[in-house]
Amino acid sequence: MLVKGLFPGVAVVTGAGGTGAAVARAFAMAGCERIAITDLNEKTLQQTKEAIAITYPHAKLLVHPGNVADDQFAESFIAKVVKAFGRVDYAVNCAGVLGIPMRSDETSLAEFDRVNNINYRGCWLSSRAQLTQMIAQDPLPSHDPSRPAQRGAVVNIASQLGIVSRPNAPAYCASKSAIIGMTRADAIDYSKDGIRVNCVCPGVIETPLIMEKIEVREAITPAAQIAPMQRMGKPAEVADAALFLCSTQASFVQGHAMVVDGGYITV
Ligand SMILES: NC(=O)c1ccc[n+]([C@@H]2O[C@H](COP(=O)([O-])OP(=O)(O)OC[C@H]3O[C@@H](n4cnc5c(N)ncnc54)[C@H](O)[C@@H]3O)[C@@H](O)[C@H]2O)c1
Repeated sequence: MLVKGLFPGVAVVTGAGGTGAAVARAFAMAGCERIAITDLNEKTLQQTKEAIAITYPHAKLLVHPGNVADDQFAESFIAKVVKAFGRVDYAVNCAGVLGIPMRSDETSLAEFDRVNNINYRGCWLSSRAQLTQMIAQDPLPSHDPSRPAQRGAVVNIASQLGIVSRPNAPAYCASKSAIIGMTRADAIDYSKDGIRVNCVCPGVIETPLIMEKIEVREAITPAAQIAPMQRMGKPAEVADAALFLCSTQASFVQGHAMVVDGGYITV
């Protein structure tokens, strides 16, 4: 269980119209008072804001829509967050797309670039802007005075498909493996700065996008049955893993790819 007062700093969440909405909500539920959210989809982003504002009025929310694949966006978003909230302590990079199901010989360069530009390059651009801010700020004390202070924590959302693969998804699987590799490399580089960089690798998660479209639901359901737990995960289950990795309770967890998949990759 997360102890009280674990999130005195500022949280930033990308992809906050999807699983990122659950992450932003979890930060608010855990008492975080400054939360910045972004997504390409302004409508779902606004819905996330309204849902949090009603239930957690203590939370100050900064809402800024934008495209993580745009190389100017991440820096302008973080500049806005720092202007409003002063710093960035916990960054969870959830923005991503699934891609059109195809084998490599059927995949166009445009589709390959689209998936990688959002998933891998977009995650790198976002985390680069977050890390640039984190190294420039003073650390915050740990919840446990015997542990080192923390200058920041980044959690990138990869996928179980960054570890194992599935048919017809070469660009997606590679984009998620790339996120795991980038996470490990950043963990090495930023340890000396008191910054931790980890990733979460979700399995099949019951997001509105999957549940609302019958054809997607029917395609995904058999994959969920492969996992020993034989069900889809909830966005809140991914969010809880991300919050643990952001918190100082995870003070010695560095460069880790935490799989949250009901056991899928163990089979
Ligand atoms: N749902 C799953 O089963 C599952 C499994 C493993 C990993 N993931 C990963 O989890 C993350 C969240 O996915 P989700 O399931 O919540 O899907 P989702 O589609 O519900 O959420 C993804 C969000 O990213 C946003 N987004 C897409 N392109 C963007 C861009 N260019 N700039 C900014 N925002 C953009 C979308 O608008 C959406 O709100 C993704 O990185 C996805 O790859 C999902």
